[in-house]
Formats: sequence, structure tokens, C-alpha cells
Amino acid sequence: MKSSFIRECLRAMCLAMLAFALSCSLFAQDTGLARTPPMGWNSWNHFACKVTAADVRSAADAIASNGMKAAGYTFVNIDDCWQGKRDENGFIRPNEKFPDMKALSDYVHSKGLKIGIYSSPGPKTCAGYEGSLGHEEQDAKTYAQWGFDYLKYDYCSFKGDVPAQIAAYRKMHEALVKSGRPIVFSLCQYGMDRVWSWGPSVGGNLWRTTDDIRDNYDSMAYIGFGQSGLERFAGPGHWNDPDMLEVGNGRMTHDEYLTHMSLWCLLAAPLLAGNDLSKMTPETREILTNPEVIAVDQDPAGIQAYVVAQEGPLEVWVKPLADGGKAVGLFNRGESAMRVTANFRDIGVGDAVDVRDLWARRDLGVVQDRFKAVVPKHGVVLVKIK
Ligand code: GLA
Repeated sequence: MKSSFIRECLRAMCLAMLAFALSCSLFAQDTGLARTPPMGWNSWNHFACKVTAADVRSAADAIASNGMKAAGYTFVNIDDCWQGKRDENGFIRPNEKFPDMKALSDYVHSKGLKIGIYSSPGPKTCAGYEGSLGHEEQDAKTYAQWGFDYLKYDYCSFKGDVPAQIAAYRKMHEALVKSGRPIVFSLCQYGMDRVWSWGPSVGGNLWRTTDDIRDNYDSMAYIGFGQSGLERFAGPGHWNDPDMLEVGNGRMTHDEYLTHMSLWCLLAAPLLAGNDLSKMTPETREILTNPEVIAVDQDPAGIQAYVVAQEGPLEVWVKPLADGGKAVGLFNRGESAMRVTANFRDIGVGDAVDVRDLWARRDLGVVQDRFKAVVPKHGVVLVKIK
């Protein structure tokens, strides 16, 4: 009698646990997408609301032919300002700047690339265009029919407490899953309410952690160096997103753009170029396409870098890599060149290690105990330690 009662209790407990596990997996479906941080281009930082279908085509042309595709850039993402009105059945139509979305996506796909789109869980996007509120399933279906592969879902005019916000993002995730097309889901709500702690549970593959980046050193450094502490929330399929790249937009120095790219790669951040790719200088292209630097970002272990030493404006960041090596960034946030030291004890490597300069793509030989480099103002030296 007693033992059958215990058996029944155990059975009930097992069923409850199974139901709980199932409901969790429904809430947090790992779509298998974005195993490494997404790479591509987004229209906002350079074109903002002026973006046209022709700009998107020329971005795709550039990526396919200038070495970016070979370097791993895949997504060609349209940001805000593509939307027109809804038709009589509530289906969204593009505006006159985007006459044929299916043809545009076919074109991008014909280059071996993928294409992304943008909307909001609110009634309006940040630029005042149609949002998806009340039309989530219809919109997801439309994006899938057009052939889109990525959605940035931007808070903008949404109103509601945290549970409402979570429900709104989850609703679109479920609509995307239902559409039957694999679509990377990018949450954009500027890092409010510790989004990194619930982003994966609403199906987010990445989530913005801050307000919008600007093309100047203070904005980029504030955002990039401010990611310290978020490392445990990133990993394959779910990434912290410190916003899109400003490399090549013209308002930072070469050293500042090297800092920007190095930091984003150490952070395992999404790499979405934000410049006009059709008018890129060779210098910008080199920053965006250095294969050894990109390998740090795309490392399959998907570990986000953390700070191991900081002294005044000098910081040393370390990213453990899948092959057992470590990428190390020696940063100088100060106003004049300074010597930065990375102690191997802080980094957790042996006394004598091989060091390779990743921007110079040059072996520096075996180094003992510590690696020192003179780093220019607002600059970086990025090395790999084996
Ligand atoms: C917000 C986002 C930006 C961009 C604009 C578009 O500001 O954070 O990245 O998408 O909206 O209106």
C-alpha cells in the first residue's frame, strides 16, 4: 500500500517535471541559428531612413565581390524605413523605395548571401513606420514568403511592463518558428531590464545591450568597454549585441577603428558593418576583413572576452579560444601612447608562450612571463597567445 503510494507520487512528480521541461523548451526553442555571432551589413548607420532597394543591392554586390563574403559576412540587413501601408487584409506592404521585396531577396540570395528585415513589437517603428503590434503572425509569414532570413525587432513605441515585453518578443519568436523559415531573431530594446537574462527564453539569438552607437570614440568606447561583466550571458546561438559597426564611417581615427573592431571581435559581438560598402577605402576593407581578427570573433567556443587587468586608461582583455589559445587585447584609452603589459599569470597561460600579432599578421616569437607593447592613444595591440 505504502510502496504503491510512493510509486504514484514519483510518477506524478516525473509527469510534472516532464510538463515543465516541455513548456520551457517551447518557450526557449533553440532554433540552431547563429552558432557563431552573425556577420553582415545593416543599412542604418550610414543610410538611416534614406535607404533604398538599390542601396541594398549595391551592398550585396560589394560584399560578394570585395572579400567580405569570403571573410564571413553573410547578412544584408534592411533596417527601419522600408515599410508602406497595410493592405485591406492587414498584410504589410513595402513603400515606394522597395518596389519588390521578393525580387530583392532573390537578388541577395543569388549572390550566396542572406537578407534581413526590421520591425517593432509596438504599433510604430522608431522612425514612425508601421510596427507589428497585432500583426505578428501575418508579418512573420510575409517575411518568410519574401525570403527573409533575419529579423531585428526594435522596441520603439512598445509600451508595457517587463512581462508584457517578454510576451511580445516571445510572440514574434513563435510566429517566426510557425512561418517555417529559419529566421535569426535579433532583439533590440537597448539593454533594458537585464535583457541578457531573459533574451534566450524568448528565442533571441542576439540582443542589444545598450543605446545606439555613434561614429565617435567616446560612444564606441563607452559601449564596447562597458560590456565587461556580461560575458556569462553570451554563447553559441545567443549573443550580447553592443550594436553595429561604425568602421569606415569617417569620424574615428584609424587606431580608434582598430580598437572598435578588436573589441567587438574579443566580445564575440555580431559584426554588422554599417558603412557605405560601395565607397569603401582599402584601409576600411582591411580592418573589416582581416581573417585572423575575424577568427577571434567567430571562434566556435563562443566565449566572450573579459577584463584581466586595468590600470587607469589601460585595459587587458582576454578571450579563450577553442584551440586552447587565447586572444589578448592590450588597449590604451588614454590621450597619449603608453606601454601596456599583459602578465601571463593574469591571463592564465604558461611562463613561455608563442605570441602572434593579429593585425600585423606576424609571429613575435616566444615571450617569457609578460607581453609588453607600446600602444598608441585610443589604440590597441591584439595578439594571440598559444
Ligand atoms: C533604434 C535602433 C537603431 C535603428 C533605429 C531605426 O534607434 O536602436 O539601431 O534601428 O532605431 O529607427
